[in-house]
Amino acid sequence: AAPMRYEAENATISQGAVESNHAGYSGTGFVNGTNVAGSFTEWTITAPSAGTATLAFRYANGTGADRPSDISVNGTAVAASRSFPATASWATWATVTLTAPVVAGANKVRATATTAGGNPNFDYLDA
Ligand code: GCU
Repeated sequence: AAPMRYEAENATISQGAVESNHAGYSGTGFVNGTNVAGSFTEWTITAPSAGTATLAFRYANGTGADRPSDISVNGTAVAASRSFPATASWATWATVTLTAPVVAGANKVRATATTAGGNPNFDYLDA
């Protein structure tokens, strides 16, 4: 099935804010997580059936340094310190894609910053 788009500005944010000062985002903005390990954005996605979902995170990282993030689904780690490499600027958006097991119905996909730099800016999750 075609993926659904889940805007980061509609997700649950622990330490961070919705902002719109860098161009190129989808929806009404993006999430700028606080620059601290442990800050997270958590999307609730709906899977039509149990199985393996493709998770595509659109992000920007204008720092020049990696912004690794732990990805979990329903509290289970699916990608530890997943790399979110630098993009050319904060207005340059890229996609990191991975696959993960999901249950039928609602699933909580959380991206938790693992370094003091925090997460990249998140625009949306396609799943
Ligand atoms: C800058 C940028 C923000 C970004 C932040 C960061 O302040 O404008 O959009 O989130 O750097 O380092 O995370």
